Amino acid sequence: MKIVSVVGARPNFMKVAPLHKAFQKYPNIKHLICHTGQHYDEKMSKVFFEELELPKPDFYLGIGSGSHAVQTAKTMIEFEKILIDEKPNLVLVVGDVNSTVACSLTAAKLNIKVAHVEAGLRSNDRTMPEELNRIVTDNLSDYLFVTEKSGLENLKREGIPGEKVFFTGNVMIDNIPGYMPKIELSKVKQELNLHGRFCLMTLHRPANVDNKDFLVELKELLSELAHKIEIVFPVHPRTKNNLNNLIGEEAFHPNVKLCEPLGYIDFMYLVKNSAFILTDSGGIQEESTYLNVPCITVRDNTERPSTVEVGSNILAGTDLSNVKKVVNDVLSGNIKKGSIPELWDGKAAERICNIISTLNI
Ligand code: UD1
Repeated sequence: MKIVSVVGARPNFMKVAPLHKAFQKYPNIKHLICHTGQHYDEKMSKVFFEELELPKPDFYLGIGSGSHAVQTAKTMIEFEKILIDEKPNLVLVVGDVNSTVACSLTAAKLNIKVAHVEAGLRSNDRTMPEELNRIVTDNLSDYLFVTEKSGLENLKREGIPGEKVFFTGNVMIDNIPGYMPKIELSKVKQELNLHGRFCLMTLHRPANVDNKDFLVELKELLSELAHKIEIVFPVHPRTKNNLNNLIGEEAFHPNVKLCEPLGYIDFMYLVKNSAFILTDSGGIQEESTYLNVPCITVRDNTERPSTVEVGSNILAGTDLSNVKKVVNDVLSGNIKKGSIPELWDGKAAERICNIISTLNI
């Protein structure tokens, strides 16, 4: 069986890495990796291949940045050529980025089977580009691998036949136990000159960081917070551009340590050891849940409700006066203790590969 897995943007690399490792145990499966090049910077892409021991991609499409239509369309044009040449039995896509939807649509139109890992998540907010990508990808997929119970309910409600759906757990979590010895050895705390307790912050959602008023208020919030705790802020390229263009990056309090995007090992060290996390990311809500670190999510909704219901995630909304209240609550010791959602046990990729290996395709 020949499988082409697609990676495009940062969170995809962490999801395909454990799947690639698990596929190696099946001599009858040839697993190829196609990198669309949606994320191309060394710090947004290459470092993850090195740290997560992914081989050099078999195909690199070099798509780069662009509007949603441009990025999606260019990916489809280039990916179609690969599929026509390679004729795989299965295209495997992960997550919800533009590369995910572009490649699943290309494969489905060529009548190639599609597997979606991380299927069924819904924020129920169609203004999020990722939500549209999830809905389209799930509808095109032949095999849907679900990370949490809400995904099963969403797919059932949308009429996706049950026999296509498999509850297999969370592949992104698979990396954490295996890499923990390396994570523990990270020197990032010294490198960033952090002294004691710190908060880890990441923000990159267009709805937040493309908005000047939000960034101005954020700076005020961080100035206040910086009197109480150090803040590490690895800055995503989109956020960096907007900070530079809209408010000026250098204006932050010295206890707010801005840095370049970090690799997996250093970043996970910071997740594990932070007093709490402030983020609008999807994946970090899950990683912090697994590590039982309080996570304050600066969004009005989440497609990962189990992190709030079972885990240590708190949905604080995008009104920063409310975020401030939640932060002060957490700082004063009112910390939410969570537990780990079902099947987030480091074995999701094994389960998925096992199911795929039995498919008659
Ligand atoms: C994308 C995903 C989002 C995911 C995020 C993780 C979509 C719709 N969005 O958003 O779901 O959470 O990745 O980071 O697919 N840029 C660089 N270097 C890079 C990559 C991007 O400078 O290596 C710049 C681009 O030029 C652009 C901005 O960052 O200005 C945004 O990149 P893009 O891939 O379009 O979307 P993200 O916001 O990263």
